[in-house]
Amino acid sequence: MKSYFPIKKTNKLSKQMLIQPMFVDQRIKSSKKIKGLGENYSWPQSTILKAVEKDLKKGLRNFLFFIVPKEKQKLPEDFSFHYEVIRSLKTQFKKDLTLLIDTCLCSITPDGHCGISHNKKINLPETHYALGLAANTYLEAGADIIAPSDMMKDTTKYLRKIFNENNFNAAQIMSYSTKFKSGFYGPFREAANSTPKGYDRSSYQLPVNDRSKAIQSSIINAAQGANYLMVKPGITSIDLIQEIKAETLLPTGAYQVSGEFASLKLLDSQGLGKYRDLLMESLNVFSRAKADYIITYGARDIVSHL
Ligand code: PBG
Repeated sequence: MKSYFPIKKTNKLSKQMLIQPMFVDQRIKSSKKIKGLGENYSWPQSTILKAVEKDLKKGLRNFLFFIVPKEKQKLPEDFSFHYEVIRSLKTQFKKDLTLLIDTCLCSITPDGHCGISHNKKINLPETHYALGLAANTYLEAGADIIAPSDMMKDTTKYLRKIFNENNFNAAQIMSYSTKFKSGFYGPFREAANSTPKGYDRSSYQLPVNDRSKAIQSSIINAAQGANYLMVKPGITSIDLIQEIKAETLLPTGAYQVSGEFASLKLLDSQGLGKYRDLLMESLNVFSRAKADYIITYGARDIVSHL
């Protein structure tokens, strides 16, 4: 099976390892800057192809899409907007584009949680069922990699099972396998319309102070059939990457999340640092820590420098 992000042999930063997040939002008619994230916008469906084309010309290839539908759904089952977006991207750009789709329910559920909940408690079977419908739809539309970020127990296992049942045996899963509950997700949640209401995400995201739980979470996802693992936020997980790789022998990447990235931009805007230098420095550290790929909102700003 083709590996889009193989285990790296050197610590050198390269453009092949960069993944650019992208937001498509059904609620908007023209592009909208995302607060704190520099040249990152939410795009309406009508201009997303143009935006991607521009990035491809810069030398980017890998994109992680967050698709935000207009309507919230209590029991999510309609992923037709997602389907249309993915289909049009793959029809237009084919293999020039490696298309990763963030697979979660937080932009759809009325309470902004990553699963379906009743009385502040996640219902796991309902959640898995909806995630499975979503992921199947994305694969049918042409997604290259399914990236479940919900962090519910056994999601990777469930997805692998239904992919096998639906003749998607070769489907690739990038699991957000070690994902902490974090204060660094702020700018993202505005763009994804996914700020949690009623209770926080600590029942399904990891506590930052428990190293063995954090490593175990990636090991479990590897055993359940993930092809790629991830630590997130990058800055609070740098020390975990090597051990996860040693335990699982799987490629493991780092997600420089919205709040981390925004902090670089803020330093720059206050005249306290230079954005491009700060970005390079932080990405080189992920690389030194042996991240095999890096998801960063700054990918388009540095790709031509690599
Ligand atoms: C949730 C999800 C989150 C991010 C990616 N997927 C936020 C969360 O868990 O609340 C954060 C990414 C970022 O901050 O850049 N599905």
